[in-house]
Amino acid sequence: MTKIALFASGNGSNAQAIIDAIERKELHAQVALIVCDRQEAYVKKRAEASGIEVFSFEAKSFNGKDQYEKLILEKLREKEVEWLILAGYMRLIGTVLLTEFENKIVNIHPSLLPAFPGKDAVGQAMDYGVKVMGVTVHYVDAGMDTGPIIAQQAFSVKEQMNLDHIQKQIHRIEHQLYPKTLQKLFKY
Ligand code: GAR
Repeated sequence: MTKIALFASGNGSNAQAIIDAIERKELHAQVALIVCDRQEAYVKKRAEASGIEVFSFEAKSFNGKDQYEKLILEKLREKEVEWLILAGYMRLIGTVLLTEFENKIVNIHPSLLPAFPGKDAVGQAMDYGVKVMGVTVHYVDAGMDTGPIIAQQAFSVKEQMNLDHIQKQIHRIEHQLYPKTLQKLFKY
């Protein structure tokens, strides 16, 4: 069984989709740890409900990324984690984790990368008036939403779709695409 850690900063609906896919036995993995950088993040409640241990930290209490990533690394080693799965984790991964988990860190992003990296990808795409939007799953490198693309899924933006419709459609796609893509990755 592949041991994974989920990294999340907020609501954690993607983390939940992964936990649910594992429960349904569609994804053969075990969530050994949830790493969270926000005190009030809802994902922590989800973790508690599923009996998953959370490693919680506040970046501002540390003297730089290396320092808190070393602490995260200790915990990941203790739990024998093999893959890091970013699911709405709003921080760049640093050298400490990139070195230890080479080609074993994956992220999901709500745009067809390389278009619209960074924060508020959906808002950026709407401001542009794009007619096709989508979701990308990719390997993580030192950049912001860069790294080789593993999977993408697109959809057409209809005239009548507002931000809420688009967000819902993005989430619907993410919640299926992420577990499905991870299952393919873990098979090799
Ligand atoms: C997701 O839409 C994910 O693609 C996005 O944050 C959202 C988290 O939602 N990630 C990024 O923008 C990464 N740059 P969730 O907390 O409900 O899973």
